[in-house]
Amino acid sequence: MTSTIRPADESGVCGGACEPIRGTATGAPRGSLRRPAAMSGNLDVSGLVDSDGGLLDRAIFTDESLYQQELRRVFAPSWLFLAHADQFHKPGDFFTTYMGEDPVIVTLDKNRRIRAFLNSCRHRGARVCRADFGATRNFTCTYHGWAYDLEGKLISIPNKEGYPDSFDAKQWGLIEVPHVESYHGLIFGTWHPEPVSLRESLGDMAWYMDAMLDHDEQGTVVVGGVHKWVLSGNWKLAAEQFATDWYHVNMSHASALMLLSPSAKPKDEIIHRTGRQYVDPNGHGAGFPVHPKNRFDARTVHEWMDYGALRERLGDARVEGPMTTGHATVFPNFSYLPINGSVRVWHPKGPDTMEVWAWTIVDKSMPEEVREAQRLYNLRTFGPSGIFEQDDGENWSEVQAISHGFITNGVPLNYQMGLGSEREDGRHPGRTSELYSDAAGRSFYARWRELMNTPAWHEESR
Ligand code: FES
Ligand code: FE
Repeated sequence: MTSTIRPADESGVCGGACEPIRGTATGAPRGSLRRPAAMSGNLDVSGLVDSDGGLLDRAIFTDESLYQQELRRVFAPSWLFLAHADQFHKPGDFFTTYMGEDPVIVTLDKNRRIRAFLNSCRHRGARVCRADFGATRNFTCTYHGWAYDLEGKLISIPNKEGYPDSFDAKQWGLIEVPHVESYHGLIFGTWHPEPVSLRESLGDMAWYMDAMLDHDEQGTVVVGGVHKWVLSGNWKLAAEQFATDWYHVNMSHASALMLLSPSAKPKDEIIHRTGRQYVDPNGHGAGFPVHPKNRFDARTVHEWMDYGALRERLGDARVEGPMTTGHATVFPNFSYLPINGSVRVWHPKGPDTMEVWAWTIVDKSMPEEVREAQRLYNLRTFGPSGIFEQDDGENWSEVQAISHGFITNGVPLNYQMGLGSEREDGRHPGRTSELYSDAAGRSFYARWRELMNTPAWHEESR
């Protein structure tokens, strides 16, 4: 494969990629403002991802212009995780987060509708909400005092008489995320004006997600707060690993595994452990060992679980597979671990840095002591200083730290395990590969390549 980054050519897949970004991408009036085409010059990434051959060019983790293109073409049009429904109980409850690098406020309006807005004042651009979460009646910018209601309308402007008669406050409300949908309590949003539905974009991945989210009628709630930490490393390293990589477990986490189970022989497990890896055409992925007698590791949680009822609700294949041990990513940057109830977002912060935001979710039906056992188990294993989490973060930072070397950057990475192994296995929906496989990783990057080479809605020519 070639490691050359090519500008989009006139006949190539990028099509109209070199058109200026449309001023109406967010519906905001732009008057006579126009952006020069060079500001949004897109690159054809066909030569950087060889999904059939299982090779990747490291430039996709380090190149600043590719990173900017990701924000435009991968993050802007995709469904991105925003929050859990349990974070909003009364009108005015809010939570601030990011979609790509765009700050957003998620809130419950007076009609109890979850809405999301760009957290940037329409006056001079300051954030109108600087708190991480809370409850409010309106959002007042602390720079000059413009204030917005829970529907995003501009409701108060100091010195309004100083503006011309042509000033129309209705034109200057907060920019709203046009589509917000939830799936079993997980709230996602997209900037795409006409997206496929969230459920449709999840496809068969929903079956695997239900193994964590749908244990009973009551659904899940959040325990504790949101842990946030910064890691050196490109966001895709983490998202990819949660989609496809059980392979690292026995080596990277060997000491942690031996600590938890002193009789275990991690190196033997790599040969003998059986399981499957779900490979989704939209870039999602999940891997899970298969145990006829699956169990939750936190003993209090395990003893509370009604496995008979779970088998009836979810079926044997899910209870013996993705309900407990395993990993998963919903493309592009939402991941989860069923055994811990850990759900997390890998927020991109430039090509070399990610910010991890992690929630612990539990079954609402869990009594307090069981919730607490799960929270502590998650904290000890996959909290920011958890014994497993630190191993993973160290790997991503290590890979990133050397990737800018000129020679290093040109040496391709290998994703060839399980090439051609995907099939319908008759037990799990969609196509699966072996537990130890790079198949979901290849699919993740195939989806990334497809989006990177496809002009987004905001690039339509005028
Ligand atoms: Fe918000 Fe001026 S920047 S009121
Ligand atoms: Fe790990």
